[in-house]
This record gives sequence, C-alpha cells and structure tokens, in this order.
Amino acid sequence: MSKNTFYITTPIYYPSDRLHIGHSYTTVAADAIARYKRLRGFDVMFLTGTDEHGQKIQRKAEEKGVSPKQYVDEIVAGIKELWKLMKITNDRFIRTTDKEHQATVQKIFKKLYDNGDIYKSEYEGWYCTPCESFWTETQLEDGKCPDCNREVELTKEESYFFRLSKYQDRLIKHIEENPEFIQPVSRQNEMLNNFLRPGLEDLCVSRTTFDWGVPVTFDDKHVVYVWIDALSNYITALGYLSEDDSAYRRYWPADVHLVGKEIVRFHTIIWPAMLMALGEPLPKQVFGHGWLLLEGGKMSKSVGNVVDPVILIKKYGLDPIRYFLLREVPFGSDGVFSNEALIQRINSDLANDLGNLLNRTVAMIDKYFGGTIPEQREEGEFDSDLRDTFAELPNKVEELMDRFQFSTALAEIWKAISRTNKYIDETMPWVLAKSEDKKPRLAAVMYNLAESLRIISILIQPFMPETPQKMREQLGIADRPAPDWDSAKKWGGYPAGVSVRKGEALFPRIDIKKELEELEALSATNKGEAEGSQHASDMKQAAECKPAGAKSAAGKADGNDAGKESKFITIDDFARLDLRVAKVLEAEKIEGSDKLLKLKLELGGETRQVVSGIAKHYTPESLIGKSVILVANLKPVKLRGVESQGMILAASNDDDLVIATLDSDIDSGAKVT
Ligand code: ME8
Ligand code: MG
Repeated sequence: MSKNTFYITTPIYYPSDRLHIGHSYTTVAADAIARYKRLRGFDVMFLTGTDEHGQKIQRKAEEKGVSPKQYVDEIVAGIKELWKLMKITNDRFIRTTDKEHQATVQKIFKKLYDNGDIYKSEYEGWYCTPCESFWTETQLEDGKCPDCNREVELTKEESYFFRLSKYQDRLIKHIEENPEFIQPVSRQNEMLNNFLRPGLEDLCVSRTTFDWGVPVTFDDKHVVYVWIDALSNYITALGYLSEDDSAYRRYWPADVHLVGKEIVRFHTIIWPAMLMALGEPLPKQVFGHGWLLLEGGKMSKSVGNVVDPVILIKKYGLDPIRYFLLREVPFGSDGVFSNEALIQRINSDLANDLGNLLNRTVAMIDKYFGGTIPEQREEGEFDSDLRDTFAELPNKVEELMDRFQFSTALAEIWKAISRTNKYIDETMPWVLAKSEDKKPRLAAVMYNLAESLRIISILIQPFMPETPQKMREQLGIADRPAPDWDSAKKWGGYPAGVSVRKGEALFPRIDIKKELEELEALSATNKGEAEGSQHASDMKQAAECKPAGAKSAAGKADGNDAGKESKFITIDDFARLDLRVAKVLEAEKIEGSDKLLKLKLELGGETRQVVSGIAKHYTPESLIGKSVILVANLKPVKLRGVESQGMILAASNDDDLVIATLDSDIDSGAKVT
C-alpha cells in the first residue's frame, strides 16, 4: 500500500548576514509538523531553502568586494549549519541559484509570456540615482528616497508585466469557496478586504537596472522579479517542467505553505494567480503565523547575541529553545521573545514539571526496587483516573497538531505531566515503601509512572528531537525498536524486566537573576550589531511596482479623474482603514524621548506594539487597561528605533490632547466603522 503524501514548505530565506531567533520560527514549526506527519505514517516532503537573487544582495556583495555568488555561498552555508544544529529534518534544500531552479523559472516565465499572461510595457516609478532604486509613491518617505533620503525623479523603465488583474475574480471566488485556503481566518479577511476587493493591478515582473537574477531568455537585458523567482521554488524543487517531474506529480499540490504574516499576500494572491496562469492546482493551504517581537524595556537593547539562535542553543540547549518557540505563543498570533520568559519556561515547564517527574520516578524505582519494577502489581485508587488522562491525550494532540495549534497541543501534554506529578502526591510511594505488604501496590505506582513517561516521550517527539531519547535511556528502553506513534495510544507498553538507569537532569535549573545579568553584559558588548527584526525593510523590498498609467485602487473605486484632488473620500476609501478597538496591556516611556510612549495593545487575541506621541499628556500607568481605537493596517514604521505597528486615535488642539476611547465596554478586536 502506498502511503499518503504530505508536502510542507517554509519560505525560502534571504541570506542576511545574521539570522536571529525569529527567523527560525517558521522552520521549527514546519519541522514539528513534518516530524509529526512522519510519525503518523505520511510520506512527507519538507522543503526549505534560500532566496538569493535581487538588487539588495548584489549591492551587499559589492560593498564587501566579492561576487554575489561568493557572498551568498558563505551565508547559505551558515544557514544550512543552523538548520543542522536545530535538527531540522527538511528533505530538500533549494537555492534559487541552483541551475535546475533557474532553468525552470525561465521556462515558467516563457510559458506565461507565450500564453499572453506576461506582456511588455513600461514601469513608472520614482528613481533614486545614487541608490539605483525604483520606489513607488507610497514607499517614499517625505517624498524622498527611503534608503538615502535624497531627491528622487519620476522615471519610466521598460518592463514585463504579469496580468494579475485578470485573476482577481477567480482568486476571490477561490478564497470564498475554500475557507481552509488561508489560515488563520483573520488573514483571509485581510486579503479580501485590503487587497482583492479594492482591485488588483498588473504586476511588474522584470527588472533591467541590475543583473543579479534569472535572465529572461527571450530578452536578456531583463532579469525575473525576485518574487516570481522565489515563489516558483515550491514547484521547481519537485522537478516541475523538468525531465523527471515524478516528485511534482507525487507531492503537488502542497498541503501547506507556512509563512510569516507579512508575506501571506505574496502567497495567497501572486502565487495562486501564477499557478492559475500555468494551469496548475493551487496549494491546499497557506498558514500565516505571527511575529516574534523583542520585548521592550530592559532587554530591548539586547538585540545581538541574546537573539542569536546559535548562542541561545549553546546556552540553553536545543530542545528548550524549540519548546519555547512552539509553546509560548499561539501559532498565528504575535508574541514577545524575552530571555526572561524563556528562562521561566525552562525552569517551570521543563526542569520542574517534566525533568523532576523523570528524575523522581527513576530515583524511586532505583531505591525501592533496585531499578527493575517487579511484575506482581496491585491496582489501586487514582490509577484509572491517570490512565484516562493518557487515553484521551493522543487524540487531543492529534486534533490540535492537525490545525497547527502547537501551543495548545503542548499545553495538553503538560497537563498530563502535571496529572502524573499529582499522582505521586496522591499515592505517596514513600509511605507505601514502609510496609512489605504494600510492595505490590508500590510496584503498580512505579509502573504507572514509568508508563506515563513512556507515552510522554512519544508525544513530545515532534517538538523535541533530543529529550525523548534521553528519557528512554533513563527508563531503560532506549535499545528497543523506535516507538511508533500509535503505541502511545495503548496503556501498558512499558516492558517488564527492564532496568532504569539514573542519568543527568534533563533540564538543569537556571539561576534567573544571575543569568539575566550575564545576558545584559553580553548584549552591552554587542549593541547595534544586529537588527532584531528586519520586517520594515523586507516590506520595502517586497512592494511591487505599477504599470505606467495604472489607476490606484482608490481611484478605481472612486471613478474620479486621476490627479484631481477632492476633499471628499468615498465609503470605499474609508473601508480601507482597519480601525479596531484595542486594549492597553503595557505602557512605558521610550528612553531619550519626552513625547513618545511605547504601548503593548491587545486586539482580539493578537498583540501589537504601537509608539504614540502622547507622553506629555498621559502617564504610562494611567493608560493600562484603557480601550483605545487603533488604525490597525497602517504600514509599520520605526520611531526612535522602536517598531510601531499602527496608530491610536487622539483629538488635539494647540496644547491639549485626549485619546479617543469608547462610550461603553466592547471586546477588544471589534471593528470601528
Ligand atoms: O520573506 N518572527 O524571507 P525572510 C517570526 N525570502 N517570523 C519571522 C521573524 C520574526 N521576528 N523574522 C523572520 C522572505 N521571520 C522571503 C520569502 S518565499 C517564496 C520568499 C520569518 O528571510 C518570516 O516571516 O525575510 C518568514 O516566514 C521567514 O522568517 C523568512 O523570512
Ligand atoms: Mg522577511
């Protein structure tokens, strides 16, 4: 019987000089799913790779005085090392500089050109000569180049365009008819309301101002736009349009593309439109996860070493880092990474709950029975309750993993761990050990503990590559055949006659105060070396250009003559604003500014960081718990180096300012219309 297939991808990474822990977020999540699906018996194809073309890379290479290929080769080697260190089990690693990938991208481009979906026109944009960069109107900052702040001029350049607009209606229909296509659901509405319904413009898909890219075969002064090049990786890696396309036929369409939320748009609009134009099926799902943000306050200076995954893994071990990434934040929402939160999780969930359970169990079996549990065992109170917990657990975990709810799946496993710890308190083995006639009962208690740990060691395998084996070594079952997932569903799998082997603590406790001081010192020596989040600049690089004479989305809806200013906006213009009720969770002053406050807001299960110029009118304490109105779809900006993801509404005159609040209580996340 042939196995069911499961094809999962991560985005392909930009070879940036330094990967931070946020970058490993998508990959660790994808790896957990891939491991889980393999355990469930699927034939898994797990793809990751690197996105190596484009002007930015070319320029960085020039700055370093090496060729772009030399530049990326070195960084890509580092990325591969990192995935090895993190025990990522990708089946393929694709580089957009691979010969086969480039050849297929050329075929894809030609095919789209031949069937009329790509045409030649002119690209109009603002050009910054010193930077050799085109910018769209909205990318300019105060009418100037966002990179160097110099004057720009309106320029036209010959370009190829992809007829994205042609696919608008089909895309809307597909999204509406396939609620699973974009997950979580909130991102569906965002795509429909902010991009698809206002109207799509054709997309500029070639460039002539630099040459580090895939050349257009029939017009070689053009290179293919990086996103067309990059998105194609999901099928070029499978041999699409190549001599051997068996993997393509076997695995496509993908079961899921995991992506960060800032690139959902490329994966749910441009990519499916390309596939429609190629006549190929669409991926079954695009899952847009949230961002891992850096905490403000004390640790905010600590970008650099404290978020370097290699250093974090050396310091704390791989499994704790992977556990933290998947446990701390519900997959889909934004979350905050802090060393403090990480250490707390290690101490409580890992050292206390799991580590202690194993340690106590093995120590007791050793002490009471010389390491081997006798076969004469007596059932007693609390046993069936413990067994019930474990009988339900695998199904719960499966159901949650199938929806990529890692955090809740882990929470369920940890509930069972707590239940097992409680079982020790309930049965009081140290009391049973005092009388000889209680030995059979004591043996049963020890067996139930060992058996619980055996099941736990199976269920945590998708998340933690190292701990399960360490547990099995201590339980004395490491040399048995690799446990299959379904054996977690049958109570009683812990074999008779084996001997436990006391080992090192699974997760040593960390002295949090000392550790934070050390980290502070470490970060002080690295200040400013690395950027905590590169999203702002990524989003700039990601923006598309428009064909000359294309109307803006607002212009289309409005039907006004282009260029004619009106003091009215239409209801459609207003609908483009995503105004939401948000609750202030935290507020603090931004160092070095007497105007700015940094707020942490909560809106319907998601958190946002917003910088607001209200410090002269509100103390941070007075804001906590208030409901405010947030412009939720404002392009993120950095103010004083702090990312602001939106703006809160306030009324002001010359010297007064009050923030807009609500007449009475309503849930955060509610839309303001
Ligand atoms: O976007 N928190 O590559 P990339 C969570 N080359 N996820 C984060 C993160 C953070 N702080 N920082 C980065 C690209 N990521 C394109 C993709 S696909 C055809 C082309 C995630 O290196 C980010 O959201 O900028 C994305 O999923 C991945 O890292 C790669 O980002
Ligand atoms: Mg990015």
